[in-house]
Amino acid sequence: PPVENILNLHDFEVIARAVIPSKAWAYYSSASDDEITIRENRMAFQRVWFRPRILRDVSSVDWSTTILGCKSSLPLYISATALGKLGHPEGELTLTRAAANHGVIQMIATLASCSFDDIMDNAASGQEFFLQLYVNRDREITRKYVQHAEKRGVKGLFITVDAPQLGRREKDMRMKQVDDSASAEVQKGQEVKKDQGVARAISSFIDPSLSWKDIPWFQSITKMPIILKGISTAEDAIFAYEAGVQGIVLSNHGGRQLDTARSGIEVLVEVITALRAKGYHPDPKFEIFVDGGVRRASDVLKAIALGAKAVGVGRAFLYSFCAYGQEGVERAIQIFRDEFEMNMRLLGAKTIDDLVPEMVDASALNQH
Ligand code: FNR
Repeated sequence: PPVENILNLHDFEVIARAVIPSKAWAYYSSASDDEITIRENRMAFQRVWFRPRILRDVSSVDWSTTILGCKSSLPLYISATALGKLGHPEGELTLTRAAANHGVIQMIATLASCSFDDIMDNAASGQEFFLQLYVNRDREITRKYVQHAEKRGVKGLFITVDAPQLGRREKDMRMKQVDDSASAEVQKGQEVKKDQGVARAISSFIDPSLSWKDIPWFQSITKMPIILKGISTAEDAIFAYEAGVQGIVLSNHGGRQLDTARSGIEVLVEVITALRAKGYHPDPKFEIFVDGGVRRASDVLKAIALGAKAVGVGRAFLYSFCAYGQEGVERAIQIFRDEFEMNMRLLGAKTIDDLVPEMVDASALNQH
């Protein structure tokens, strides 16, 4: 169907599944073990209800914000998803070009199909990026990669901390044929096992010994804000704050890592409560993000009301470029924009700052 017929983010998923190779579908859609967490990511949003306010003159509403000091036209960013060329010949560049046209920030994956420099060379002037980092066992490779990214103007380093080993994504593992050429940036050095699915085959360089002791080293090699991506408890959120990083992403990696880990939105409530009790929240120098299962602006608004600065969106954008390339991503952004306008009016929120905890009823959030 023509892209104008796409009415919501779910529609892209149906089309992507029909048009991309089955190996790509298996890699993108899979989650770990029994895929309980990936389902929970969607369901958790449905346990948060709105408490809309009325008669607030919502003739003009504004959902723009800043993320780590960068302007963003929407309170969300494109989260890193690896191997874009499995699903579309132009891969991650479809995201780059759409993001440029709409003032959205793209997080570039260490395992992107398009090389980091290829993406930067295709950026519009002034376009902002974040970088997702998988830490290599060979720290020299990581140091060079990070410092190169900083030199090229990347505005935030998102270190993935929930993947010391890749989860078992059985749908992906059943697809035995691994195409090594899919990733330009594979940071080799380890034997590749070809019967473990795409994900495991490309991830053997990741260092499972990474620990809190390594954080000062990252702080010594870069001035970029450092964000830990993949926090799931209040305890680790407090450690992160005390380690002096600039933010955290409450995330279960789109359900692809530890199955039956909780959803980011549920973790958000305990994190905010714990940080507040310590006097660590609110703090403009420590931004809290959530990702997992976002398909509607209403999901985003709930997270912001509960204390998130912005949310990450993975598969929704991934499926939009699989289905329609750059045009699909632009349509996805437009749908989000239309939904923000309507939902903010109906909520009685004129700006992002009007989204306060009293706008939601999250009392059912941790009742499973
Ligand atoms: C991911 N994600 C991810 N995260 C990361 O830190 N490094 C990576 O290389 C990848 N790769 C990746 C591939 C694919 C196919 C998916 C679906 C996801 C996780 C991603 O950044 C984000 O945390 C989740 O995708 C958010 O959940 P939704 O929006 O996909 O439900």
